[in-house]
Amino acid sequence: MRQRDSHKKQEKLERPRGTRDFLPEDMEKRRHVERIMRKVAESYGYREVCTPTFEHLELFTIKSGEQIVEEIYSFKDKGGRDLALRPELTAPVMRMFVNECSVMPRPLRFYYFANCFRYERPQRGRYREFWQFGVELIGSDEPESEAEVIALASRILDELGIDYELHVGHVGILRNVLRDVEDEISSKIFRLIDKGQLDELRELMLSSGLESLYNDVEAVIQAESLEDLPESAGKENISRLKRVCELLDVYEVKYSVDTGVVRGLDYYTGIVFEVYAEGLGAQKQICGGGSYRLAHLFGGEDVPSTGFAIGFDRVMEVCRLKPAEKRRVAVVHANQLEESIKLAERLRRELPECVIVTDVMGRNLRKQLSHFSDFDFAVIVGKKEVEKGLYTVKDLKSGKQEELDFEELVNRLKSTCQGTQSI
Ligand code: HAM
Repeated sequence: MRQRDSHKKQEKLERPRGTRDFLPEDMEKRRHVERIMRKVAESYGYREVCTPTFEHLELFTIKSGEQIVEEIYSFKDKGGRDLALRPELTAPVMRMFVNECSVMPRPLRFYYFANCFRYERPQRGRYREFWQFGVELIGSDEPESEAEVIALASRILDELGIDYELHVGHVGILRNVLRDVEDEISSKIFRLIDKGQLDELRELMLSSGLESLYNDVEAVIQAESLEDLPESAGKENISRLKRVCELLDVYEVKYSVDTGVVRGLDYYTGIVFEVYAEGLGAQKQICGGGSYRLAHLFGGEDVPSTGFAIGFDRVMEVCRLKPAEKRRVAVVHANQLEESIKLAERLRRELPECVIVTDVMGRNLRKQLSHFSDFDFAVIVGKKEVEKGLYTVKDLKSGKQEELDFEELVNRLKSTCQGTQSI
């Protein structure tokens, strides 16, 4: 192989399609929002878990079938094992549950914040690497567990000041309507409903000789209340959905009943829900979840669970929250580099809530002051000041200058730094 000529200017290397770089300002906002999500989840008793970035491919094909391979990043490692980058975290968390936690007292309340990978056609709000904030409540089959999970999702979004619509349904209703339809056709039907392709749905059902069922399917998708549902929806499913709605009212969560929500993933068995936000175009779903059973497929017992995942990147597009800015202090010097470093270190210990920066460019005092002109304060270290044990602190916004000893300096900066720390 020919070596690249190291002296020749190379073309810029770009990042892979569907991935993004995040600059400090982006990351500060993202971390701020992430902290709020964690805080709310933790206040409901959820504790963080972390699973591997890659898993055995089988973990994702076992329920969804081989066709899912088209949609995920899968590869063989050097030992010939079939692996995949996680496209989501529900299956990994349930695998972890079966491996590590099956004897722990239930329910288990877990949350995660992690990157996921899907081989999708990138567009606004749809990436090949994206982040999910999600929870799984493992071990309960009661409606109160479903209501709690839905309420938590809505509380997180409320806390972020997002305008959204929450739609709650029950996947068992359509399953019941379609119970006598061949698996292959019914999964096509589900996929079309999930994508909102209702003309194609009608065509498929009519051409498959399912015209009588089509009326019921249409009634389920369009039902505005539980009273509008056909009998084939199943009494148990309807009363379950009703009970979850009653509990959501207790939580004072705003939602609408939408029995047309069926979710794209195959593992849901009961209550399902989706959240949509305005202003995102086609990729407006910012959260999805529901009840499912997966543990038995991974070698565990059949454990009922409920969870959701929030599409963190989509939330970031609509969330206007920003972290409070930290006070920024420049320690500048006139030929007193060592003294300025020492002072900066002492200040960092005393004022952890402030940003303290020194010059690393060998600039003279004038150039340092000009470089740091958008900071809040400059502390000037000069030979005379070092000898006297005094420091000149300049408020760079007002131009006011004072000469203070170390203790006074710390108190002066402390009083202005208070209240600027974000949660
Ligand atoms: P999901 O609906 O596939 O569900 O994904 C959850 C959320 O992740 C979506 O609502 C969307 O906001 C976001 N999302 C999905 N794909 C992309 C993408 N390519 N780019 C940006 N954001 C995306 C699940 O993953 C389930 N595991 C949720 C769950 C947890 N169900 C039960 N527990």
